[in-house]
Parts: sequence; C-alpha cells; structure tokens
Amino acid sequence: MPELRIDGARLCHSLEQLGAVGSYEEESTGLKGVNRLALTNDDRAGRQLVKRWFEEAGLTVRVDAIGNTYGRRAGREDDATPVMSGSHIDSVPTGGRFDGPLGVLGALEVVRTLNGAGVTTRRPIEIGFFTDEEGSRFGTDMLGSATACGRIELDTALALRDANEISVGQELSRIGFRGSARPRLDPPHAFVECHIEQGPILDARGMELGVVTGVQAIHWRELTIRGKSAHAGTTPMELRRDAGRAIAHIQVALDEMITSGRYGAGMRATIGRITLRPNLVNVVPGRASCTIDLRNPSDEAMARACEELRARLDGIAQNLGVEITGRETAATASVSFDERVRTLIAERMVAAGIKHEDILSGAGHDAQEFASICPAAMIFVPGQFDGISHNPREYSTPEACTAGIQILLDTLVTLANED
Ligand code: GLV
Ligand code: MN
Ligand code: MN
Repeated sequence: MPELRIDGARLCHSLEQLGAVGSYEEESTGLKGVNRLALTNDDRAGRQLVKRWFEEAGLTVRVDAIGNTYGRRAGREDDATPVMSGSHIDSVPTGGRFDGPLGVLGALEVVRTLNGAGVTTRRPIEIGFFTDEEGSRFGTDMLGSATACGRIELDTALALRDANEISVGQELSRIGFRGSARPRLDPPHAFVECHIEQGPILDARGMELGVVTGVQAIHWRELTIRGKSAHAGTTPMELRRDAGRAIAHIQVALDEMITSGRYGAGMRATIGRITLRPNLVNVVPGRASCTIDLRNPSDEAMARACEELRARLDGIAQNLGVEITGRETAATASVSFDERVRTLIAERMVAAGIKHEDILSGAGHDAQEFASICPAAMIFVPGQFDGISHNPREYSTPEACTAGIQILLDTLVTLANED
C-alpha cells in the first residue's frame, strides 16, 4: 500500500469554508464566531454543503429519519461491517469553527486521501454527521447519535420542542433532512472520532495530541421557580417570594458543593441560562427558570451530588417561600473507550513521533453513544488560548489538526483492513 498522507491544507480550507456558514461577528471583540444552531437555516446550509462534499467524494449518501447524514465508501468485502467515523456540524449559538467540524471534515479528508491514492480497504468506511450534538436548542445533547445507537427512541427525539414549541420533527421536515433510512444502526466494526480537546490540559502539558480514555458523566436539569411578583420599593423583604433570589441561592449552593470537595476535584456545575419574569427593574421576579449542567468523572459522586442538590433545592424553596420544580433534560453516565482501539491510536502516535498522553473528556461527544454498541475511541487535538471553546476564540493550529487527522487516517485504515 502507498504511504498515505492527508492534505492538511485541503482539510483547513474545508474547515474555513464550513466555518463561513452561519458566521457572525462578536460585537464586543469583532471576532468571527459560528452560529449553526441545530436545524436552523444555517445548519441546513452547512448540512447541504457537507452532503455535497460527501457526494463529490464518491460516497453513497443516506439521511436517516433523525437527520443523521452518512457517506459510505465501499470496501473490497462490501458485506463486512463498516468502520465508522464522524462528529457533528451543529454548534452552540456562540461557537467556533472546530467543535464538531474537525471530526466530520477530518473523516472526509481521510476519504479524499484514500480516493487520491486509489486505495480500497477491506471493510467499507462510513463517515457521518449527527443531529443536534450540542443540545442547545432542543435540550438533549447527542440527540442524533443517541437515537442511532439506541439510547433515545426516534419518536421521543422527534417530539422534542425548542423554546418556541417547534419540534425536532417539524424542523427536520422543513429543512429537508428528515430522511427515510432507519436511524438504529447495526453495530459497526469500530467507531473513531477526532475532536478538539476544548480545554487547557494538552497544550499546558506540551502534548501534541491526546488519546481519550472516556467521557465523564453529564447531568442537565431545567428548573422552574414560582414565587410572587410585587413592588420592588414597597414590599418588605420578609414578605417577598422572590424567584430570582432563589436562583442566586442555587448558584451559591452549587459553589459550596464544589468547594466542599465532597464530589471530587473534577466536579463542575454551571447555571447557563436564566429567565426572570417579568424581568423589570422595579418588580420582584415572580417566576424564574434556569438550567443546571453538572459534570463529574465519577457516576457515584454524580449520584450523590444530585441527591444533595435535590435536598438543597427543597431547603431554598422553603426558606424563600417559592416553589421549585425540576425536569431532567439529559443524563449520561461516564463512558470508557475501548482499550484495544485506544492502544491502536497510541501506537500510531508513537510511530509518528507525536507527543501524546491519555486524557478524559470533559465534554460530551457522539463517540460516547457508539461506545454502547461497538468498540469506540477518540483522538483529541489541543486548542490554543487555554483550549477555549464554545466561544469564537476557539482555535487549533493547522499543524495540530493535520496531526490529529493523520492519526485518524492511520487508525481507520488499520481497522478497516482487519478481518
Ligand atoms: C457538548 O459540547 C457538551 O456540552 O459537552
Ligand atoms: Mn463537539
Ligand atoms: Mn460543543
């Protein structure tokens, strides 16, 4: 077989072209960010572009009923179970160019390289992008891959609604990505995803790439707080039932839980979205809502933290005279990636002389869904500026992206030539 080298310039050019879709200028900095919120017009434009690139690369394209889009490259033994790779192209509304697209366009670069060299692997290679990995719009992350791998039922996924009560199913039909293929996948031979790290660790430790050991547990909850709106000037403090103040107390409770150390150094807690009603300068908020995002490497610590949080919420409700109700919107246990595929990846990094180490993912990824149906693993590419992500500053160098996708190619080809 000829030596296969990916074309880093072609990869970066594709990243730039897709990055221009849904691009916006951050007001305060003038930086270019990406807003391709799932199933919006900009997501549709991104999907159409990448689908066209799949077709131009000679792949057989199929779109499933949850909008996951796959491109299949035939193998010498085309009945053999395929090797898969991919990620997502939806973004948070304040995203960057790399979170997701690196894994999709990287997999496409692998296919383009194989095409250029005229190499056919034993097994087929399937690449794809999965619907609403971010969960920013419909509240549940890894939606497409979780449906493909069986954690979420198709009907449940299609019925999810955004803040304007528009459903996933409606939007898929509107943007022309409600396909006919059945979403549930037969287990592939293996799944490998390349993604940016989205954190500071690899760069700070002088590492060129990371081998991902797994993904920590994630728990999302949406709270509704009901109090009583009243005059801000005349209502004595002791008579208030202030729903906004409850959110401040919840934030303090989360901070105390973290600093207590009871849940380990790896616990993270974020209140990312708050609404207040009526949201006026001189009215005590009578109604509020917020989201809570909890992360922990340990499922046991996560379970204890959720229990303490529930008790804390009861206490806050009682103290402030408000009612707090909650709804779990997403929850995934910690996931360990496949030892054998991780070792394959590490061996390829050693052979290429790349400084690397093992790393646990702080963010959720499509590969974690595949870990429940087949051997799955991930390659992390370090980011600049403390690995900032979900932010227009998100940036990984062309050298780092090229190194990560070269390892993706080496790993996929090895897996696709296995018996
Ligand atoms: C995905 O980006 C996550 O929230 O971890
Ligand atoms: Mn991502
Ligand atoms: Mn993300």
